[in-house]
Amino acid sequence: MTREEMKTKKIGVLLGGLSAEREISLKTGNASLSALQQLGYDVVAIDVNKGLPQQLLQAGIEVAFIALHGRFGEDGRVQGLLEMMQIPYTGSGVMASSIAIDKVMTKQIFSYHQLPTPRFDFMRPGDSTKDLLLRCQDLPVVVKPSREGSTIGITIVKNQTELAAGIQRAADLDGTVLVEEYIDGIELTVSVLNGEAFPVIQIVPRSGFYDYQSKYTTGATKYLIPAPISPALYKLVQQAAVKACHVLGCRGAARVDFMCREDDFQCIEVNTIPGMTATSLLPQAAKVAGIDFPQLVEMILLDADIDK
Ligand SMILES: Nc1ncnc2c1ncn2[C@@H]1O[C@H](COP(=O)(O)OP(=O)(O)OP(=O)(O)O)[C@@H](O)[C@H]1O
Ligand SMILES: [Mg+2]
Repeated sequence: MTREEMKTKKIGVLLGGLSAEREISLKTGNASLSALQQLGYDVVAIDVNKGLPQQLLQAGIEVAFIALHGRFGEDGRVQGLLEMMQIPYTGSGVMASSIAIDKVMTKQIFSYHQLPTPRFDFMRPGDSTKDLLLRCQDLPVVVKPSREGSTIGITIVKNQTELAAGIQRAADLDGTVLVEEYIDGIELTVSVLNGEAFPVIQIVPRSGFYDYQSKYTTGATKYLIPAPISPALYKLVQQAAVKACHVLGCRGAARVDFMCREDDFQCIEVNTIPGMTATSLLPQAAKVAGIDFPQLVEMILLDADIDK
């Protein structure tokens, strides 16, 4: 949509929501909302609950800016509802969103397309935990609920006695549990907007683990932009990030996370609704690329569409 067309529309920023990442979504949503207000758009906040269809109808929303993280927002469900209501929305469509939220499915697609990803095992709902435990002998591993974000429910398991508890912790959040080879290396992230990679960020959490606290506490993590890595690796991860988004069919903004040992990079996941808080990665990368926060929010907004 052109800027002129968009200025005539009633825009709803969908925020809050029902997932474990509600608090982060409120921050992403409110930051995006004020940027759009400053730019002169007719925009309101919609705190998403079960009554979302009525909320959208009552407010007369014509375009949805989705600022939800985690389940029911980043996973294709809200996108499906908006498709049904024929309301254009920002970011990835139903299929890309529902695949990207599931780390196991994402890794299976990466493998198919020869995108390097750490070795892994998993259990789906109904599978035996005992069998998974028995298969995971090679430690350390990282145990993750397949469909969460913000490091919620993730455990780095260094010895066999911690494994069962780690699996249980993840299983409490999602019936699908991923057990992944631990990569002892540096962490990189590449944001992609409309098929183009932004500057690579190296993430250096002071605690050593990029957990919830390191992600959202100002000063808890150092961000090196552009990442001080070899030019070859820099280019490779940017290309891999674009490819990862392409093979999943992502649209709009996304962020691809990597763990790297020397020049060997491993792709760990794709976030289809990257955070837009004060400490978030996408806005920092955009800034280095010369795009300020309101401009970034507007670029995401103008790309709003329904599935083609
Ligand atoms: N295979 C791995 N080896 C080493 N560390 C890892 C591995 N996988 C994840 N981590 C660490 O755990 C963090 C969270 O992992 P991941 O990005 O998969 O989960 P997430 O909770 O979905 O994150 P996000 O907040 O980006 O959505 C990573 O940022 C990284 O620090
Ligand atoms: Mg991540």
